[in-house]
Amino acid sequence: MRNGHQPLSGRARRPERAAGAPELLYRARQFRAALEARVSPEELVVVQGLLTPAEWRLFSAMPPYDQRHCLDVYATLVAAGHADPLLLRAALVHDCGKVDDDGSPMALGWYVLATALKRAPGLYLLAARLLRPVALYAEHAWRGARMAAAAGSPPEVVETLRHYHDPAPSGRAALLQWADEQH
Ligand SMILES: [Fe+2]
Ligand SMILES: [Fe+2]
Repeated sequence: MRNGHQPLSGRARRPERAAGAPELLYRARQFRAALEARVSPEELVVVQGLLTPAEWRLFSAMPPYDQRHCLDVYATLVAAGHADPLLLRAALVHDCGKVDDDGSPMALGWYVLATALKRAPGLYLLAARLLRPVALYAEHAWRGARMAAAAGSPPEVVETLRHYHDPAPSGRAALLQWADEQH
């Protein structure tokens, strides 16, 4: 452990993105991995130790597949030597905006649809206007930032969540985008 943060090694269940692998095959494997996603009690203890109680509630509200994904992104940053607690806290809750205002998580089927539609931006925008779950997916970065702000997270965490899906983010948001893209 280079930086004092738990590496959480060996828990990642999402498939490696093999160079040249067809996108559809990769997404199918990713979907299957999401169905099988698990988070261990030991990992939850680590997360609880890093987050504030309000951030922990954001993490807890996410379904297991998003919790698993956030842990994998966190682990990627730790493995790359990043020890900035604000970055790591942002990583652990970065997809909390996919939970709707009623606290319902986004169903996996909508992920598949939204991810597929992103390949056709015009259709994606139209679907986001017509289908609430697709809009939720499209807006989840700024929604997550708003939720983190309401949870009392520091501005650095809020800004990181707000910008990590930008086309060319900087600072912590760029690091989070890089780690997010590994999973
Ligand atoms: Fe995201
Ligand atoms: Fe993500």
